[in-house]
Amino acid sequence: MKQPLTITKLKKMKQSGEPISMLTAYDYPSAKLAEEAGIDIILVGDSLGNVVLGYDTTIPVTLDDMVYHTRAAARGAAHTFIVADLPFMTYHLGKETTLRNAARLMQEGHANAVKLEGGAEVAEEVAALVKAGIPVMGHIGLTPQSVHQLGGYRVQGKLEKEAQQLIDDAKALEAAGAFSIVLELVTEPLAAAISSSLSIPVIGIGAGRGCDGQVLVYHDILQYASPYMEKRFVKTYADIGTTIRGAISSYVSDVKSREFPQQAHVFPMEQEVLRQLYGGTKTEAAGSQSPQTEQEGAASADARKGGGQS
Ligand code: KIV
Repeated sequence: MKQPLTITKLKKMKQSGEPISMLTAYDYPSAKLAEEAGIDIILVGDSLGNVVLGYDTTIPVTLDDMVYHTRAAARGAAHTFIVADLPFMTYHLGKETTLRNAARLMQEGHANAVKLEGGAEVAEEVAALVKAGIPVMGHIGLTPQSVHQLGGYRVQGKLEKEAQQLIDDAKALEAAGAFSIVLELVTEPLAAAISSSLSIPVIGIGAGRGCDGQVLVYHDILQYASPYMEKRFVKTYADIGTTIRGAISSYVSDVKSREFPQQAHVFPMEQEVLRQLYGGTKTEAAGSQSPQTEQEGAASADARKGGGQS
């Protein structure tokens, strides 16, 4: 059985140069498939606001949404390290609130760690969480919860002042006790420099090849109806959106043309039982056929009474 990752093991992966793979997942099936595929870390990101709930930004995502989705993902991936996002404004209202909110993600959602956005300005919150025994992953660069303040989804750290701020933020998060940092949408040379200057793993998204690991969004890499899969930094590995749409369209057309269901999908019934129910002529009208087995006949009779499982 797979050994769940620990933050100690993650640090060792950085030291030995083994890249860390992280992928978002938001429910039981996505987390189960990610675990079966051997992912190192599952991130229940607040990107679920965009790709699962259909919002334009992550801002409307609530703590209840995060707890609900984290719990479902944790059920699907019991042997994988799960990080859950603290959503918008759940860690800016004082340390006590931050601690209580993070505790919900761990106690009710069964996350192993939490992630929050911001640099030096959230270092005190990070330190308080770590002091309480809650592992924290930082997130700097493009921080989607601040999209309106950043003026859109654009590459960060292109200018010297901005780059210096990112370096300082990364250092502040490390000093506050974060076990890892996500760097989003940052120029490749700056991301590489930040990664090599820290002792904790830096996981990049749109941050190039010099990071200690990579994270992408489940719906993006699978072309699963994601509005974001066209982004330059996303590599798509399958087109399940087209597969699902095609399958559903075949089902619709089978139902319309009565191609489905067929003999193999139905439960027959003994003629005699039908005769007892409806009498002679109605039996034929009911389209009865001899059951393949007695058990099937009984199941069918049950199903008609509303007691069947089918
Ligand atoms: O919410 C999320 O999915 C994230 C990743 C993009 C890093 O924060």
